[in-house]
Amino acid sequence: MRKLAAGNWKMNGTLADLAELDALALACAEATCDILICPPATLIHPMVARIGGGGISVGGQDCHAAESGAHTGDLAAGQLRDAGADHVIVGHSERRADHGETDAAVAAKAAAAHRAGLRSIICVGETEAQRDAGDTLDVIARQLAGSVPECATADNSVIAYEPVWAIGTGRTPTNDQIAEVHAAMRRALAARFADGAEMRLLYGGSVKPSNAAAIFALPAVDGALVGGASLKAVDFAQIVAALDAA
Ligand code: PGA
Repeated sequence: MRKLAAGNWKMNGTLADLAELDALALACAEATCDILICPPATLIHPMVARIGGGGISVGGQDCHAAESGAHTGDLAAGQLRDAGADHVIVGHSERRADHGETDAAVAAKAAAAHRAGLRSIICVGETEAQRDAGDTLDVIARQLAGSVPECATADNSVIAYEPVWAIGTGRTPTNDQIAEVHAAMRRALAARFADGAEMRLLYGGSVKPSNAAAIFALPAVDGALVGGASLKAVDFAQIVAALDAA
């Protein structure tokens, strides 16, 4: 299974920051894992133009479920593809929280991404209250069942486990907690999809150079979705190197 280091720039970055991409491309020239950066939509095309089909893929952070129409401010998956993206994140917890996205809405977005020829990165994750209540595995099972569409395959879909309380906080679950959730996700996907056992599973939430190697050593962790530490090429390159070494 090819490993994937995915960076999520969130609402950060302007044209001036494309220099970070040059530094990343240089630092990761020999990398063997897949590398993806999901910048703000304004930077997708400039990024693709700048790295010109090199070893770094470019993705969106969200898409609408419809192909086109009266949806002011939204972007269709086909438009992301047109701009040069080949991936799109759907169901990130910040989208679920800020925009009230339900599991059904996330599944519809992922299906739209697949129709447009994009690979979806479908995010799931429990809140701190859900973890404290002992509901983590139930929450993840419910989100997987509702957010991963029937058209998902190991080729067109990647699943990211991102505990909401670990995102941007510097806190991470214990290695045992990550391993437990990833094992449960692999079992659930294998039971539901013909090639579900081959779907790549990313961990996300405060991944940084200092904890990446330990997380990548866990079974059923096939890479990471990285927010803050993807903004600086030196940090993200170290995470890519840790993934390559795992
Ligand atoms: P973080 O974000 O690495 O800054 O915690 C991860 C994410 O939201 O994908």
